[in-house]
Amino acid sequence: MVIYHLSTECYPVAKVGGLADVVGALPKYQNTIENIYAKVVMPWYNKPFVHEHEFDVVFDGFIHQGSNMLRALVMKEKTNALGFELYMVKVPGLLDRDNPYGYQDENFQFIAFQHAVLHWLSAMQIRPDVLHCHDYHTGLVPFMIEHCPEFSFLKGVKTIGTIHNGEYQGMMSWEMAKYMPGFDSYQWGLLDWNGLINPLACMIKCSHAFTTVSQGYLEELYVSFHGLEHLIRNEYGKAYGIINGIDTEVWNPETDPMLDYNFNIRNAVEKKKKNKEKLCKEYGLRPELPLFAFIGRFATEKGADLLPDMVWRSITQTSGALNVMILGSGNMAIENKLKEFDYVYSNFAVDLGYKEYLSHKIYASADFLLMPSRVEPCGLNQMYSMRYGTVPVVRYTGGLKDTVQDVSTGGAGLNFTYPGVDDIVNAIERALSIYSRKDMMNSLIHTNMSFDFAWEKSAEKYIALYRK
Ligand code: ADP
Ligand code: GLC
Repeated sequence: MVIYHLSTECYPVAKVGGLADVVGALPKYQNTIENIYAKVVMPWYNKPFVHEHEFDVVFDGFIHQGSNMLRALVMKEKTNALGFELYMVKVPGLLDRDNPYGYQDENFQFIAFQHAVLHWLSAMQIRPDVLHCHDYHTGLVPFMIEHCPEFSFLKGVKTIGTIHNGEYQGMMSWEMAKYMPGFDSYQWGLLDWNGLINPLACMIKCSHAFTTVSQGYLEELYVSFHGLEHLIRNEYGKAYGIINGIDTEVWNPETDPMLDYNFNIRNAVEKKKKNKEKLCKEYGLRPELPLFAFIGRFATEKGADLLPDMVWRSITQTSGALNVMILGSGNMAIENKLKEFDYVYSNFAVDLGYKEYLSHKIYASADFLLMPSRVEPCGLNQMYSMRYGTVPVVRYTGGLKDTVQDVSTGGAGLNFTYPGVDDIVNAIERALSIYSRKDMMNSLIHTNMSFDFAWEKSAEKYIALYRK
């Protein structure tokens, strides 16, 4: 069975968040299953990876976007260095940029990507068994295959759509329709949601099956989903919640080259302490105090707006009995407030930016990882932290519900219900009382490290779904 994963991100080529981690790992694990050939197709980016690897041009042609004729090249990475065939689509001026997102013309970008992929597959008469579309950026593909005459060769190819994050739907005005490959106009209703073209809604309507990255998140979407709950309820017969795994080769504390001191479950307590001492020294924190960390995009869905209040309340209310460290970026007001706190509080540190190596060091050094998410379709941070012996303190929502169980009910993490500062600070106080009991803390480190979040089980679940 041949599967093409279509995505705008893939670790380590281009990463903004967890989508990249999933697309960089899932195909690799799928390829360990007999007779499964999973490949990845993504846009071309001007990133170190593309300069460090060699590519063959496997296709060179043209697509029409409205009255514009655009050159589209498909480049295949030569050595399958990532454990799967990697194809990158280059459209000069649109798909050869530094980053996946943040450009004014991103609707053009994503339409061009989807168009170019299907044009290439049709022209080369490549008919995969499954096209697996990730998030709204590739959400028009299931529609295009069935309703654009240009791709009649692909008609009937099975499509799966995975919703990694339903907060982003890619809505655009109907003006954009003229930049799509020509389609049967009487099918316009499949593209439409409330008077706009909505690629995510289109993916839900047109794919043969769609998945969310946890069962907990799917259940929440049935109840409330920015108006799409009706649609998702209508389509419930083809909805599946499949929890993400983690790449245990990349995220292995025993071999992780980004750590100062590698460790395993046997020497974790002692080595985590050494990692923490080093990190605290670098950031002017106090290693004798517990270290609470947050890593992530400064977005409302992550509860990032709560961070400044959380920092001052937790430090003042506990008379400075803890360290807090934050790694992230994405909102000027939050960034400025946190920078100010960095001057004011000696046991607080913030590093603004995207730093892969530092995230690994923090997972290895922290005692607790905070995730006050309002919405969390799956969340990978909590699983990375658990693998690195760091106790997750999470809001009870989405994928966090499915992966972190509270100590009070036999689990090894801490849950809180409401995404507000009072609930977070209460959870922090509970964490501090656990920290003060060394036996309990050490046993939580061990229990967290022994959980199995490897991809194998979920990779199989996707294959079972493809077969269905
Ligand atoms: P999302 O995809 O919604 O951002 P996930 O929990 O699925 O959330 O994945 C986030 C990924 O991005 C994790 O690998 C996390 O370590 C990483 N990450 C987030 N922010 C940063 C940052 N500032 N620096 C380094 N890594 C980060
Ligand atoms: C999204 C979600 C996150 C999930 C990731 C990978 O970015 O916000 O919860 O873990 O996708 O599926």
